[in-house]
Amino acid sequence: METLRRWAPVAVIILVTLLAHRDVLRRLARLPGMRARPQRLRACRAALIAMSAWMAAVVPVLTLHNFAWLPADVIAWALALSLFWVLAVLCFDAWLAWAQPASFNPSRRRMLAAALPAAAAPLGGAGFGIALARYGMSVVQQDIVIPGLPRDLHGLRIVQLTDIHFGPFFGPAELERAVAMANETRAHIAVLTGDLITRVGDDLEGCIRLLAKLKAEAGVYGCHGNHEKYADLPEQADRLGARAGITFLRHQAALLRFGSARLNLAGLDYFGNGSRLAGRIAGLVEPGAINILLQHNPAHFPAAAETGFDLMLAGHTHGGQVNLPVLRENINIARAFTEFVRGRYQIGDSQLYVSCGLGTVGIPVRLGAPPEVTLVRLCAG
Ligand SMILES: [Fe+2]
Repeated sequence: METLRRWAPVAVIILVTLLAHRDVLRRLARLPGMRARPQRLRACRAALIAMSAWMAAVVPVLTLHNFAWLPADVIAWALALSLFWVLAVLCFDAWLAWAQPASFNPSRRRMLAAALPAAAAPLGGAGFGIALARYGMSVVQQDIVIPGLPRDLHGLRIVQLTDIHFGPFFGPAELERAVAMANETRAHIAVLTGDLITRVGDDLEGCIRLLAKLKAEAGVYGCHGNHEKYADLPEQADRLGARAGITFLRHQAALLRFGSARLNLAGLDYFGNGSRLAGRIAGLVEPGAINILLQHNPAHFPAAAETGFDLMLAGHTHGGQVNLPVLRENINIARAFTEFVRGRYQIGDSQLYVSCGLGTVGIPVRLGAPPEVTLVRLCAG
């Protein structure tokens, strides 16, 4: 099931692209200008066949998180440009379809010219999304009211960084800024909730070297995300983290004391949606303490609530990363995998906060989900 979830979006994107290529070719073949110059049509056909082969044969290989035959930055750029190609082809196809070029004449020429900005709007949106992903970072504060919270924990601040995806689109400059913003919050605890990197070959060491600058009086803790797991990097992250003063909690808990109050911070590696978590985390709950779970995947919130965790901190969804408002619905890919996409949720006395995170996967674009450094503040109910 997890494999299906990993590959379904890739398969859908490839299928849509191949269908769009076929559609574009059919529409181009009907253009009078193309009919008059068959060599142009042959060149377009050859280009679209080459791009179809790239999308169907090369992109799935590049998507493998442990593919290490090329530098990780090259793979990241190749995948991003491939996705921009998909967007451009869909825009071009829509433009051809809407302007009905089969009956091309001077009035049609005006219609085509008028339709061009509308068809190119998604590309403009992508440009805005690139700028937002790179420069739109801010601190998002979320108060979590916990009934019966000990007085010594009232006002306790936890700063959360997640889904950094350290690489060409979220590099040292951006991460340094995020760490500086996190340090400005003067949090008591700093937590990392997974996806430090995207794939094998990404500079995990450089990422953790910058994260070593995180300051929090009770320490820096973390859990691993799906990308560390797929790239088989959790052990390396543990070793680098230990040297940098970062403790990755892997089916472990750290019991922290603030005055006379106890806060139990538990964490475990990414769990896929198909896995049942409840039975596995029962032993991580500390009776009489405030229990907080670090788990990358927010889909497991019901299990955390059932087990007795007061709060779960997660990432993974990137807040949808690209959100498209359609009628009254907010469409994003994360909704296909979980109902917990972004922000605070509650089941009984348990709460979940899903951070939008910092980096991106695939296309380096964020729409409706700016990168965030999360500051959680515990409040007595
Ligand atoms: Fe992620």
